[in-house]
Amino acid sequence: MRTTIDSYKARAGRLNTDGIDFEGFKDYPLSAEALRSLRYMHDIEHHTICYLRDLLLTPAHRDAEVTSFLACWAFEELWHGEAIADVLEAHGESAGAPRVANLRERRKWRDTMEVASHFGASTLAGASFVALHMSWGAVNEWTTQAGYARLAAREANPVLTELLKRIMKQEGGHIDFYASEAARRLGESKKAQKLTRFALKHLWRPVGSGVMPKSEVAFLCRFLFGGSDGRAVAERIDRRVDKLPGQDGLGLLTTAIDNFSRLTPAA
Ligand SMILES: [Fe+2]
Ligand SMILES: [Fe+2]
Repeated sequence: MRTTIDSYKARAGRLNTDGIDFEGFKDYPLSAEALRSLRYMHDIEHHTICYLRDLLLTPAHRDAEVTSFLACWAFEELWHGEAIADVLEAHGESAGAPRVANLRERRKWRDTMEVASHFGASTLAGASFVALHMSWGAVNEWTTQAGYARLAAREANPVLTELLKRIMKQEGGHIDFYASEAARRLGESKKAQKLTRFALKHLWRPVGSGVMPKSEVAFLCRFLFGGSDGRAVAERIDRRVDKLPGQDGLGLLTTAIDNFSRLTPAA
C-alpha cells in the first residue's frame, strides 16, 4: 500500500527521548569510533534545514504534497540532531547550536555557489527534477537508516541502540514517502528516468559528503559499511535502487564506498 502524505503527517513529530538515559554515558562512555560517527550524523541531521532551503528554490516547492512532507521531515530531522547532540554533550563535547554555527560559518561561500547552481539546474529540468529529488531522497534515507543500524550493531550499547532504534523508525517514514513518490514519478516519465539516472550516476555521493571533510566520509564508509556485514547492507541498498524505474545496475553505494574507502585511510 502506498504511504500517503496524510498518513505520514499524522505520524510525524518530535522524536520521543523519554527514558533514554543520556546521563548514563558519563559512566559508560561510547567508543571513539562511535563518537566520531555521531559527530558526522549530528552535523548532517542539523544540515537538513539548509538542504531544505535549496530544495524550496526548485520546482519541488510547487507541489503541495511534497512541501507538506518536507515541513514535517525537516522538523523530525532537527530532533534527530538534537538527540545526538545530547549524546555528545553527555561526553563533554560541544554540540547543538555552537557546533552547527561553526559548520555554517565554514561553508558560507560554498553555500552561495551551490544554491545558485542548484536553482539553475532544477529550473531547466522542470517537473522531472521532482522525480530526481524524490529518488535522491530515497537513496539518502536508505543510507542514513542503514548507517544508524550499522552503528547500533557495531557499538552494541543498549542506550545508544534504543535511541537509534527510535530514530530509525522515523527514517522509515521518510523512506516510505521518498521511495513511493520516486517509484510513481519515475514510472510516469521516461524523461524523469533519464535525468535521474544521469544525476545519480554522475553526481550522487554518500549523505553528507558535500558538507563533511573527505576524511570523515572515508572513515564512515569504512567503519559502517566495511567488512562483510557492512558490504551486505550496501549491496541491499543498491538492490533497492535497482527496483526504481530506469535505475537498474547503478551500484551507487558499493561504488561510492569503494571510492571513498580507497581515497583516504581511516585515521
Ligand atoms: Fe534523521
Ligand atoms: Fe530522514
